[in-house]
Amino acid sequence: MKFFVDTADVAEIGELAAAGLLDGVTTNPSLIMKSGRGILEVIAEICEIIDGPVSAEVAATDYDTMLKEGHKLAEIAENVAIKVPLTWDGLKACRTFADEGRMVNVTLCFTANQALLAAKAGATFISPFIGRLDDIGLNGMDLIEEIRQIYDNYPMLETEILAASIRTPNHVKEAALAGADVVTVPPSVLKGIIDHPLTDKGLSAFLADWKKTGQSIL
Ligand code: E4P
Repeated sequence: MKFFVDTADVAEIGELAAAGLLDGVTTNPSLIMKSGRGILEVIAEICEIIDGPVSAEVAATDYDTMLKEGHKLAEIAENVAIKVPLTWDGLKACRTFADEGRMVNVTLCFTANQALLAAKAGATFISPFIGRLDDIGLNGMDLIEEIRQIYDNYPMLETEILAASIRTPNHVKEAALAGADVVTVPPSVLKGIIDHPLTDKGLSAFLADWKKTGQSIL
């Protein structure tokens, strides 16, 4: 499973990339707002750090303007994945971008049928929003399982399942078990995945015993 980070914070992306943990980045208009910076410069800086797909979302809702915005975003770097919403205009734009050979991330997916349509429209990635389904009392992970089953029924569909709206380390594990191709995780959750009290306790014990040996490896 590939790991993307879900943020427009360039400093945090740089830190995680240096650890060799990142396969890509996703952003959205809310994350750009949170960064307090311009989308074009932020995406350009991220693309300098990350070789993998960097999702940049259009803000238009009509096909013609989506195309113009998508082309402008794609001009920034070869690894930009144009992010479009799961609407009729978004899917139409997805088909056009895909036919032009561009990567497309179709976002705001909440049903398996929507994911099926996105795959038919040539999406590189479909982004089902797990946490937001959990928020309304559903089990978001069921959606990943349904999409996995449907895509596996039709091997000609090459769209990758990008589990989004990830809120907890458990979401990451469940997405992996359900067969998501990619998980996009906020930096705080990504860092939290590594922590376990028994790891810390075990390391302290090993270091204490090592000191008693008086040895040095170097
Ligand atoms: C994914 O592409 C979205 O940017 C993101 O995962 C949404 O997460 P949220 O529901 O926590 O805002």
